Amino acid sequence: MNHFLDIHKTGATDLRAMIDSAREMKAARDGLPKGTPDASQPLAGRMVALIFEKPSTRTRISFDVGVRQMGGQTMVLSGADMQLGHGETIADTARVLSRYVDLIMIRTYEEQTLLEMAEYATVPVINGLTNRTHPCQIMADVMTFEERRGAIAGRKIVWCGDGNNVCASWLHAAGQFGFDFTFSGPETLDPEPSFIGAARKQGARITIERDPARAVEGADVVVADTWVSMHDSQSSKERRHNQLRPYQVNEALMARAKPDALFMHCLPAHRDDEVTSAVMDGPHSVVFDEAENRLHAQKAVMRWCLGV
Ligand code: CP
Ligand code: NVA
Repeated sequence: MNHFLDIHKTGATDLRAMIDSAREMKAARDGLPKGTPDASQPLAGRMVALIFEKPSTRTRISFDVGVRQMGGQTMVLSGADMQLGHGETIADTARVLSRYVDLIMIRTYEEQTLLEMAEYATVPVINGLTNRTHPCQIMADVMTFEERRGAIAGRKIVWCGDGNNVCASWLHAAGQFGFDFTFSGPETLDPEPSFIGAARKQGARITIERDPARAVEGADVVVADTWVSMHDSQSSKERRHNQLRPYQVNEALMARAKPDALFMHCLPAHRDDEVTSAVMDGPHSVVFDEAENRLHAQKAVMRWCLGV
């Protein structure tokens, strides 16, 4: 049994196998209606709980569709509707869920909730986003890069904005997949130093460049994300917007990256804040491929978790 808690906690060989398997599964159902079952049904007879303590469009739907395509069944639960939100411990919840379901995916606030769930569950647990990380997103993003441009190893990925949960998982992936990662944002919103340190220890070249125009020079990918994440207080919104405005990804900034650079965003995007519509809808953008690839990448993650 394997938990999928974070990219840096999963072996590099296994990560690579998951990306390859995701691409194979995607190719195998090319052109089929979305509800058509996959030719092989590795999740037949399996029940999957999808728990959300925060809103979600992509994670919720892509996991649900992915399980069904592989022959399994899902139940989508909101944390607030469960006793989880009313004082039952995470440990007890994990023990109980393990008697009903074969796999748990949870999107939560505190990373500790995820870790406790994994410690006490006797079935695999998948991280569907915490305040600190978002590993499923970056599996889809690595897949998206590679289907467009080939191996990601040695390429230059540039993050513009807040050093948030999605940025953290990019840093973890830099160490595991061996690409260069540049963070460009204000010092107050830097990623956690431990994430940078760990990636460097694995041999990834990690750069901090406050000037976004300099940062994106030679970039293979420019990435943006919301300036205010779901766990950030609304009272910090104005300050964050003021600090992050210079890091908006617009056509002028994209023009400084490599001519064939990709623009990535995990979505949901706030058009004309962190990215302009011209870039979102322009020739560099692969944001909807990223969204689609959540489905294929997570199917591979679930199979790895269950060993099927
Ligand atoms: N990118 C992503 O995780 O989207 P949702 O919040 O809609 O799941
Ligand atoms: N950083 C964003 C990602 C959403 C998928 C958030 O946590 O709200």
